[in-house]
Amino acid sequence: MEIIIQPDADAAADMAARIFANLIISKPDAVLGLATGSTPLPLYRKLIAAGLDWSGITTFNLDEYIGIGPDHPQSYHAFMQGNLFSQVNIKPGNIHIPDGMASDPEAHCRAYEEKIRQAGGIDLQLLGIGTDGHIGFNEPTSSLASRTRIKTLTERTRSDNARFFGGSGEVPFHVITMGIGTILQTRKVLLLATGKNKARAVAGAVEGPVTSMNPASALQLHPSALVCLDEDAASELTRCDYYRWVFDNKPSWQKI
Ligand code: PGA
Repeated sequence: MEIIIQPDADAAADMAARIFANLIISKPDAVLGLATGSTPLPLYRKLIAAGLDWSGITTFNLDEYIGIGPDHPQSYHAFMQGNLFSQVNIKPGNIHIPDGMASDPEAHCRAYEEKIRQAGGIDLQLLGIGTDGHIGFNEPTSSLASRTRIKTLTERTRSDNARFFGGSGEVPFHVITMGIGTILQTRKVLLLATGKNKARAVAGAVEGPVTSMNPASALQLHPSALVCLDEDAASELTRCDYYRWVFDNKPSWQKI
């Protein structure tokens, strides 16, 4: 894993935007894995401001709530449309988000995996991290080999996300999410985390054992995982000096 520590959330988003922009420019037909939540919002704003050409880009989102349609304001379809897709020139047919209203969700999950495969796999997958270590909606105890499937949210995640819904009673219990095995097969992952409330989950993911109790720790098994943090999210890591030294002394051909 490569740990990049930036002074604040805005600088962490700048770094993430640079990594995404480099890929969009160098590979105009790249396949991007995208995420929702508060953390990626500044990144999406910076990518919009960069005025990149998205006409050949394909995207796959990590997850969606079951039982709410694309027009529901808290659906991840609406989130992506409002915060990114409506403001770049991506082709609607190149956008993929799990369908929370699918009549046969299990068949839909299998088809989603097949679409990722047909697109040639995901070049760069953006991830947030839950306070419980979840990536996508792979909650603690998720199989580290899991594929896209239906999951039940923990009470902690439902209460973390209640702020978007006007109360945790409104947050759906079930979701469709890419699996940890799906995420591990992407060519590169970029986990972006900011804020003190993520520090414990980040420390477990980076320096703890690989365990399904902290699903993000599975990224230790990924051959190309970047973890981009602000100081607060990095505050419980024990080896920050080493991570900073590695980043500051990268050989020129590895510079971001
Ligand atoms: P957040 O969510 O960015 O809203 O904190 C992250 C996540 O749950 O993956």
